[in-house]
Amino acid sequence: HIDTVEYVRRAIRSVPDWPKPGVVFRDITPVLQDPRTFRVLIDMFVYRYMRQRLDLVAGIDARGFILGAVLAYELNLGFVPVRKKGKLPFKTLAEEYSLEYGNATVEMHTDAVKPGQRVLLIDDLIATGGTMMAAAKLLQRLGANVVEAAAIIDLPELNGSAILKETGMPVFTVCSFT
Ligand code: PRP
Ligand code: HPA
Repeated sequence: HIDTVEYVRRAIRSVPDWPKPGVVFRDITPVLQDPRTFRVLIDMFVYRYMRQRLDLVAGIDARGFILGAVLAYELNLGFVPVRKKGKLPFKTLAEEYSLEYGNATVEMHTDAVKPGQRVLLIDDLIATGGTMMAAAKLLQRLGANVVEAAAIIDLPELNGSAILKETGMPVFTVCSFT
């Protein structure tokens, strides 16, 4: 017997030296590919958030879209995308964040959330936390109440989840890899 967390964790594929030497990439595609791991994963989020009176789920480009859309549908909520720069057609708000080399920008439509709405932010993984932090800032600039930042995987050695928590942001991850 293994518990559901371990069931999902064991389905995550670790790919050494991708996208570059020394990095072990935690690949969630096998979790999504198997209907049983996909369902127990989404159900964990559903049970966690079903009584939270959320208004919206915001998913981060690209893997957060897959999780966020399914979760929003299951919770009878709307879904809004946090996209990489230059993809959204309407009026946008942007937030820059730093990567290992250089910077990146995420954007949201200015009408994606209304002030006071309770929003769950979701992505596949928290590494340095830069992406999640930038997305949370965008939502907060739009007046949203970011109820929690959720992900399947935490990489605690990179400190992202700890830094997010220090800002007062509640963080939930299903499992971690060190
Ligand atoms: C990955 C991952 C998170 C982010 C985490 O996406 O899906 O969004 O990095 O890293 P951080 O905590 O250090 O910000 P990536 O930027 O590789 O983009 P992709 O979705 O286009 O693959
Ligand atoms: N998987 C997915 N996204 C990531 C990773 C990873 O291992 N590390 C940094 N971003």
